[in-house]
Amino acid sequence: MTNLAGCPSIVILTGAGISAESGVATFRDKDGLWSKVRIEDVATPEAFLRDPAGVHAFYNARRRGLGAIQPNAAHQALARLERDFDGDFLLVTQNIDHLHEAAGSRAVLHMHGELQKALCVLCDRRSDWIDDLSVESCCPHCNTAGGMRPDVVWFGEMPYRMEEIYERLADCALFVSIGTSGTVYPAAGFADEARHCGALTVEINLEPTGAALFHETRAGPATSLVPAFVDEILSGSDRPFKKA
Ligand code: APR
Repeated sequence: MTNLAGCPSIVILTGAGISAESGVATFRDKDGLWSKVRIEDVATPEAFLRDPAGVHAFYNARRRGLGAIQPNAAHQALARLERDFDGDFLLVTQNIDHLHEAAGSRAVLHMHGELQKALCVLCDRRSDWIDDLSVESCCPHCNTAGGMRPDVVWFGEMPYRMEEIYERLADCALFVSIGTSGTVYPAAGFADEARHCGALTVEINLEPTGAALFHETRAGPATSLVPAFVDEILSGSDRPFKKA
């Protein structure tokens, strides 16, 4: 068992697996999204240039689907950890859904963007967006139509706030990867980076990814393993983690 006592700073990375038990499809599991749709058709800047209406339709359907889903016990446990942990805490997610926020997490770093936001490529400003987007959508900031895209990071684009993430990885004492296959960089390199800088690295996943980057792997569903892990952190025996 990992000794979590005395841990002053934590970085958590989440992926599609944490939302799976809320009914959101993962990407690379059997029946995952990428077994049904080709990345090259919907998740690259080239796809959007070639077929903006088709790409909008793909993300509109996913955005509409968000209305029917609720955060699960794993999202809730991480919100509790952010609230009660007496140290530096950063939650980085690759997910573009809003389930961490819906569970009560306040400072979520969405490195791959957010489905409920739109980005205007004409004025480079973001807007909250819950309706469908189209090639005719008008930017609320510059009042111009034709430049709106989902505020999601596509393959070939740079994820958001990387400098900040690497600074926190270099400083953290504990890095935890939850529900991600660890196949997409740069997120797939975070465990290596954190471990190299001295952090304890833990993986929580339905099935171990087999990566040698982790000091410890816990295999099972996020809804049971994450709450238990958070309990362990907050009840660290040598030093209280829980805020008074
Ligand atoms: N609990 C824990 N882990 C789970 C669960 C569960 N209930 N269900 C599935 N998993 C695990 C799977 O075993 C798999 O290892 O979650 C992982 C999901 O992996 P991917 O589908 O590859 O998703 P992710 O790692 O988030 O993908 C990264 O790829 O396509 C891009 O931009 C997309 O952000 C995404 C990125």
